[in-house]
Amino acid sequence: MTEKIAANSSSTHRQDTVIAHAGRDARANHGVVNPPVYHASTITFPTLEEFETRDRPPYAGPQYGRSGTPTQFAFEAAITALHGGHKSVSYPSGLAAIAGAVTTFVKNGDHILVSDNVYGPTRSRISGVILQRMGVEVEFYDPAIGAGIKDLLRPNTAVVYMESPGSLTFDMQDVPAITSALVGSNVISIIDNTWASGYFMKPLALGVDVVVEAATKYVVGHSDAMLGTVTVATEEHFQALKGMANSYGYHAAPDDCYLGQRGLRTIGVRLERHQKNALEVATWLQGRPEVARVMYPALPDDPSHALWKRDCTGASGLFGVVLVDAPKAAVAAMLDGYTLFGIGASWGGYESLVLPAYPGKLRSATGWDAPGPCVRYHIGLEDPADLIDELSAGLARFNKARNE
Ligand SMILES: Cc1ncc(COP(=O)(O)O)c(C=O)c1O
Repeated sequence: MTEKIAANSSSTHRQDTVIAHAGRDARANHGVVNPPVYHASTITFPTLEEFETRDRPPYAGPQYGRSGTPTQFAFEAAITALHGGHKSVSYPSGLAAIAGAVTTFVKNGDHILVSDNVYGPTRSRISGVILQRMGVEVEFYDPAIGAGIKDLLRPNTAVVYMESPGSLTFDMQDVPAITSALVGSNVISIIDNTWASGYFMKPLALGVDVVVEAATKYVVGHSDAMLGTVTVATEEHFQALKGMANSYGYHAAPDDCYLGQRGLRTIGVRLERHQKNALEVATWLQGRPEVARVMYPALPDDPSHALWKRDCTGASGLFGVVLVDAPKAAVAAMLDGYTLFGIGASWGGYESLVLPAYPGKLRSATGWDAPGPCVRYHIGLEDPADLIDELSAGLARFNKARNE
């Protein structure tokens, strides 16, 4: 049995119950179970006064289609309840959510600390383009830093940006140690929580201020929409976030919010199955001589296992594999013959995926030492025995190409 979600008034139940009910108001919609899809640009107002005060803070309710429709607000209410948060803002993609969150809390002349294991575009686009052009100094830190983050704080440090576990290397951070070290400062902590997707980890309860989810992944869950969310714990942070989202003109489309809401209803059952399948496949891979290491914190011998066990209630279906030394042609021979594992970006849908991964290219504060190439697997909802058969045949192709 899981604990009740301790937060606002809508979160008086355990999380699977919250997920089934949050963000729904059938009585307001003719008894229809799911929130309808409202397509809107213009919103009309009954009086001049209401029209003229429509888009001033505090932001609440429909003002103009761009700043949100009832479909978006219903989705945001459900995401907020899942996190035990105060309010959420949705964005047209996960990357837009990261940009929205970060740019809300930094300004020209500030300093931001970013974990060295973040998602590639968080480094290349957010840090490398947006923050650079804003004149924000970006410093990458060792994900293992824990309470040592305190030593890196400067008078102008505005944000500590975390991702746990990291995108390609799956190393967990000591999130409570980092947030405790920030207590008493004005530094805002932000985390990309997409791997655990709000279901298996509750960063707000670990002291984090701002939680980003690429809802494109497990929330949508079916590889058919782009969506991002940011959840905060206070009205002050919400007003800042929503104000910035309105300034950029970020709009999460109603059809996509509907798909996000629909996906969210089954996230628990899907994630439990992703976890079961991934554990089976990862354990099998660990026993193979072609595999130097499986990077998956749910495995008992993973270096991040203790932190994962302390802070998460489960593991999703995404993990990395370090292969033994081999030329790229051997990796290509392995991947090219797959029929169940698609080669493609993203993850979190019902289907299995694989990607080559190059963690060494995405580190600057820490090194990356691996005996061979890396691949990242997303384990879908197929029968794991079929996935293992496919992986086994792939490793045979890998060996053959390696020895040619
Ligand atoms: C950890 C993580 N965060 C954020 C994103 C960005 O999400 P989106 O693809 O919806 O922009 C991704 C996408 O792969 C991701 O893996």
